[in-house]
Amino acid sequence: MCGKILFTTQDESAGICLEELKRTFGPGARLSRWLRAGIGILDTDLGFGEFSAVLKNSPPIFLRHIFPINTVIPIGETIESAGELVTFAAGFADGPYSAQARVLDPERYGFTKYELTQAVSAGVSKAGGTLDVRNPVNVISIVVCNSLAYAGVSREDENLSSWPGGMHRFAKYDGQVSRAEFKLLEALDVFGPDLSGFARALDLGAAPGGWSKVMLERGLAVTAVDPAEMSPRILRDKRLTHFKCSAQEFMERDLGFYDLIMNDMRMDATESADITRGLRGRLSGQGLVIITLKLPKRKNLAAAERGLNILRQGYAEVRAKQLFHNRSEITAVCGAART
Ligand SMILES: C[S@@+](CC[C@H](N)C(=O)[O-])C[C@H]1O[C@@H](n2cnc3c(N)ncnc32)[C@H](O)[C@@H]1O
Repeated sequence: MCGKILFTTQDESAGICLEELKRTFGPGARLSRWLRAGIGILDTDLGFGEFSAVLKNSPPIFLRHIFPINTVIPIGETIESAGELVTFAAGFADGPYSAQARVLDPERYGFTKYELTQAVSAGVSKAGGTLDVRNPVNVISIVVCNSLAYAGVSREDENLSSWPGGMHRFAKYDGQVSRAEFKLLEALDVFGPDLSGFARALDLGAAPGGWSKVMLERGLAVTAVDPAEMSPRILRDKRLTHFKCSAQEFMERDLGFYDLIMNDMRMDATESADITRGLRGRLSGQGLVIITLKLPKRKNLAAAERGLNILRQGYAEVRAKQLFHNRSEITAVCGAART
């Protein structure tokens, strides 16, 4: 069986995403073409379910989202021209579903991705489907580009992310300390680490304090380490202690023990991973590490692997992903510190 898959990665990671796919599937997955930077079509010798199952066993770092292309339907400038697409989607009205549409060249059309999603959902619901965005059985995925709608239906857990294109959004809010906060919130959603019972966190590269804030809000006491200034709003919290020094200087002190070590330091991935490996003895029994590894512009797959291998020397369980909120970096969650 063979098929076509629409895949999304970060535009700057397009090359390494393909390299990663090649390592996993060999010649069994080939780039057909890019629709946009980071959004492409793969030809594969596997069925979509099989393709997805392989990725579950060997989770990719740079591939963010996939869906099967079951049909390609011409679409015009008006929402009325989506009739054939709606009819296709209505064929999957046999249970709870959600519909997701992305429009890559919105200037060409007189409708938005929301209007397209609504039109498709109305058709599927009319045919007997139940819209259930939280717990769908079927996800109807649509990408519109160059007057063509690429559409496919899959189970939500097959797509690598429940967000269209893996674009995990959070609403901005008053009192936000830094954009970096979203990186940590996304990591908590994607990796789902169990923080229950955690009382103490160490935050390396903490300024201005977004990550510290997230953990303070979850009831942890936070030791923040950064030569830069923390936000005054964070400093007011008595459960936060700021060491205004580098992580290297901090490590010369009596460090204490932590349930969670976070590291978002702007630093070469190897050095940062090395510091984090050195802290494994400071983690409590069930303790976890959440770290971002900053990647150089070139040879970034090699840099990511070097950093992850150093972390694996310190921790038996290391999972990594380039999240939507990661720029030139990846996020790793590590557990089971080696003694
Ligand atoms: C991306 S920012 C961290 C943002 C933070 N996680 C937040 O949520 O607000 C990176 C930080 O790493 C810090 N940093 C760079 N080198 C460091 C070092 N050797 N030790 C400690 N912090 C360092 C920088 O001062 C900077 O504040």
